Amino acid sequence: MDKMERYKKAANFIEERLNTQPAVGMILGSGLGQMAEYIEGKRVIDYSDIPGFPVSTVEGHAGRLVAGELMGQRIIAMQGRFHYYEGYPMEQVVFPVRVMRLLGVKRLIVTNAAGGVKKGFKPGDLMVITDHINLMGYNPLIGTNVDEMGERFPGMTKAYDRDLIDTALGCAKGLEIEVRQGVYCGVTGPSFETPAEIRMLGIIGGDAVGMSTVPEVITAVHCGMKVLGISCITNMAAGVLHHAPNHKEVLEVGKRVQEKFILLLKEILREI
Ligand code: HPA
Repeated sequence: MDKMERYKKAANFIEERLNTQPAVGMILGSGLGQMAEYIEGKRVIDYSDIPGFPVSTVEGHAGRLVAGELMGQRIIAMQGRFHYYEGYPMEQVVFPVRVMRLLGVKRLIVTNAAGGVKKGFKPGDLMVITDHINLMGYNPLIGTNVDEMGERFPGMTKAYDRDLIDTALGCAKGLEIEVRQGVYCGVTGPSFETPAEIRMLGIIGGDAVGMSTVPEVITAVHCGMKVLGISCITNMAAGVLHHAPNHKEVLEVGKRVQEKFILLLKEILREI
């Protein structure tokens, strides 16, 4: 079966099982899974039931698709995502994005937990992603191009949609939630960075660092989606303020910020 057939098979299966034509897709990062509980008329399907889908393994990632309505939008949310560091080929990491495209998703909201690189950021801050730097040493579009999805050499000049960024900033202001803006550096992990690596990320223009998002965003832009990315700064990155990050802290801060994050996301869904 070629790639396109595999995407179609998964999309048809989901369409039948969930009876959904979503317009907005969401990828819920570490600690944000709760967001899916607010979806009305919820229909759920485990990744393990979907043909072609990889299965998530990390603690704090549920591993299911949730479809329904939220703030008047038909949405489909990934509760848990696939990370390159788990050992999946990049093609599998981004598989769900292409399936979402076939389901009709035109706008994708991607969230993640990230380490703060920029001085002045604090754990618990939310950062609207304005751009990214791909430091994974790989690109999800490597291999034969799937022409039905997009062109061979897609531009990434406006990977993060300016209108969606402005809407997010406006919503945050209205809710009196302070948000940062910045550049997300995508690394493979799973080891956290060294202090020297974090100094480098600051020098090359990074404001936050994390182990996800970049592959999904490249794939989404390739297939014509408009993307909004928001990071939850769960910790200061290695060496910033003599900090040593750990996964427990990432999950704990993610949980603490969840309420504020959900409030913002709901408002954004209402506005777009
Ligand atoms: N580094 C990389 N990824 C992360 C971090 C970090 O400090 N925090 C949350 N995800």
